[in-house]
Amino acid sequence: MQYGYFDEKNNEYVITRPDTPTPWMNYLGVDDKYVAMISNTAGGYSYHISAAFKSLTRYRYNAIPMDRPGRYIYIKDEETKDYWSSTWQPVIKPLDKYKYECRHGLNYTKIKTEYAGIQSSNLYFVPVNKDFEIWQVKIKNMTSKTRNLNIFTYTEFCVWCPLKDIVGIGSTLSETEMEYKEGTVYHYSYTDPGQGLEDMSFRRYYAFFTSNIKPQTFDIRREKFIGLYRDESNPEAIEKGSCSNYQVKGENPIASFQILLTLKPNQEKTLIFILGVTNEKYEEKKYIKKYLTVINVKKEFEKLNKYWQKYLSSFQVKTPEKMIDSITNIWNPYQGKIEHDKRITWYYTYRGGYGFRDRNQKTMGLVHFDSELTKKTLLILAKIQYKNGDCSHGYDVINDKSGNGGFSDDPLWFVYAVCAYVKETGDFDFLKEVVPFKDGGKSSIYEKIKLCCDWTFKNLGPHKLPLTGIADWNDCLNQKDGGESQMVACQLVKAAYDIKELAEFLNKEEDVKKYDKIANTMKNTINQVTWDGEWYLRCFDKFGNIVGSNKNKEGKIFLNSQIWAIISNVADRKRAICCMEQVKKYLSSKYGLALLYPAYKSYNPVIGTIGIFLPGLKENGGIFCHPNAWAVIAECMLGKGNQAMEYFKNYAPYFKNDIAEIIKTEPYAYTEYYASCEHSEFGCGRDSWYTGSVPWSYIALTQYILGIRPQYNGLLIDPCIPNEWNGFKVDRKFRGNFYKIEVKNPNKVSYSVKEILVDGKKITGNLVPIFKDKKIHNVIVIMG
Ligand code: GLC
Repeated sequence: MQYGYFDEKNNEYVITRPDTPTPWMNYLGVDDKYVAMISNTAGGYSYHISAAFKSLTRYRYNAIPMDRPGRYIYIKDEETKDYWSSTWQPVIKPLDKYKYECRHGLNYTKIKTEYAGIQSSNLYFVPVNKDFEIWQVKIKNMTSKTRNLNIFTYTEFCVWCPLKDIVGIGSTLSETEMEYKEGTVYHYSYTDPGQGLEDMSFRRYYAFFTSNIKPQTFDIRREKFIGLYRDESNPEAIEKGSCSNYQVKGENPIASFQILLTLKPNQEKTLIFILGVTNEKYEEKKYIKKYLTVINVKKEFEKLNKYWQKYLSSFQVKTPEKMIDSITNIWNPYQGKIEHDKRITWYYTYRGGYGFRDRNQKTMGLVHFDSELTKKTLLILAKIQYKNGDCSHGYDVINDKSGNGGFSDDPLWFVYAVCAYVKETGDFDFLKEVVPFKDGGKSSIYEKIKLCCDWTFKNLGPHKLPLTGIADWNDCLNQKDGGESQMVACQLVKAAYDIKELAEFLNKEEDVKKYDKIANTMKNTINQVTWDGEWYLRCFDKFGNIVGSNKNKEGKIFLNSQIWAIISNVADRKRAICCMEQVKKYLSSKYGLALLYPAYKSYNPVIGTIGIFLPGLKENGGIFCHPNAWAVIAECMLGKGNQAMEYFKNYAPYFKNDIAEIIKTEPYAYTEYYASCEHSEFGCGRDSWYTGSVPWSYIALTQYILGIRPQYNGLLIDPCIPNEWNGFKVDRKFRGNFYKIEVKNPNKVSYSVKEILVDGKKITGNLVPIFKDKKIHNVIVIMG
């Protein structure tokens, strides 16, 4: 069943019915400053910089009715006394009498509805580089008689750490200052030092809500507007026909304006509301008026659209499949940017924080769109490495604080991210930048990535594989103290080969030898001690028992050990083909590859917390999307274009639009996982907008299926496509030049390049050179 469709022309996903199986979210704000999460019925909330420390509006997580509150506009017909919402929620009128369309675009959301002859069109967005959000509401009388309407706004504030809504409401209700003054509502209190602020001082910030039309009445206290024993669907103020004008300090802060609107037949009026944050009291008075005009809203909206047009122009593709184009050109990079900037909040978690591991991976899908931002992120990550090479697992942006190390995989992601950055940009000077360690001293980025490898290679267990530490990529194989990880071993091999490749390029002979040796030693060990006969083991537990073996009753085969053995070049072709056959046999399904099989039936502390999850969900054998992207890469590395595309389509949400009632999450955003066939809700998605599959799917699509891979000294063209494709075109920026690449596939092969012409001249091999002229270069690639 469909709830909407992709509108390729406008870069929008159009939702045609509001009762989606879960709230389908979008994000407003092009950066990590002012962030607003908004659903298809305008549910969601806003914060500034940190969802935990500088929250602005409220959201009731996992409450019923779901997805409330939000950015609401109520419309009341003063003749019939009937009232409804311009976003379906929260009043919820019957769908047979209610027209609805929501367009989630790139950092904006438009919701258009019609009820009782009144059409409303809401546009929500955060202007580029501004600390406020605009709600533009057009209301049109579609009937032939004059209509007297009463409009009410509603937003609930939360100018404290949202956790306090559960654990300390008594104190917040006594803290919040509230005020209505000259057409604006203000709410302010202090950031919460109890939540980890370094200097333990209280910082103030000010939230405001204002409009282009001075309201007739207002409410700033929730209980006054909603009334007691009611909810957002039937507020007392609306039934009475006006707000209370009651000024009070403390209590539950909201902003509701009542505005009388008389509309002649076919007449339309535009209301503009702005919700924002300032550091000083009444600071917004200096600039906000300008944005309360239709003309300036239009200008700001155009700026936003231009921002995205420019951003996405770095890589545009045209393949025989429209959906692959949409994903590669729009949705995947869009989610990648959002997850990089705002991965501290999503529908399933209000405050995720930034993790070292995930953040490194996010930069890898972002680098050719915004290399400056990538560099900024990598410098932050470099700072939280310890002198010994280990890295802090997480950090808190607002307070510049980081957690402890001890996760075996963390340092290795930094190696990949740095190499990806340098390959894309050619910024070799970055390697020389000297950055402090978390525990004193400093070193260059180049030395830091070496340390990452050295640290892992130093911490080996009895089988000479890396110790798992607190955990590896799989947070739930958290055996603590002991245990060895085959996945980290493969990752180490890749990291060591990556450093060797870089050292070769930098003419650092000793390093070439050293990292080649590390890679080969570890490669041999993996092949000697973790080959189970038909596939690779996942790990040894702390007592030396095998995990991920045919001999185990549960968790016989794990996906990551097979695909990482291929990605790292550990497996020879025979073993690679063999283990991928077993992956297909045991893990594959129409919704993607399960993380392991069979799932654990119960908790076994020796292996980790994995068994706490129900069989088939999350890390316990769920279809985790993140490694599915790696599986696509692994198949491409084996030259299997058809299989790679089949695996991609199985888990990519875009291909599930027709079965949205099963998948439940947004068709335009990757999810963390789907339930596997070991769970009754097979296919059900969860934790959308929170997944490492975003950068890796992008890498899989662009660098492995389309095969356009930046190298230190050129652009490698190495496609691995479905053999029915007759070719594809890519426009790509690289090192200041623009490459117009056309790949032709006359013999319908999946893999292998026969000939490449660059600006009409044949080149040897498949590495397109870097030009220094900042011009357009035409590249024709013949496969065969
Ligand atoms: C989540 C985490 C990620 C971890 C994965 C597997 O996606 O964000 O860091 O690798 O789960 O446990």
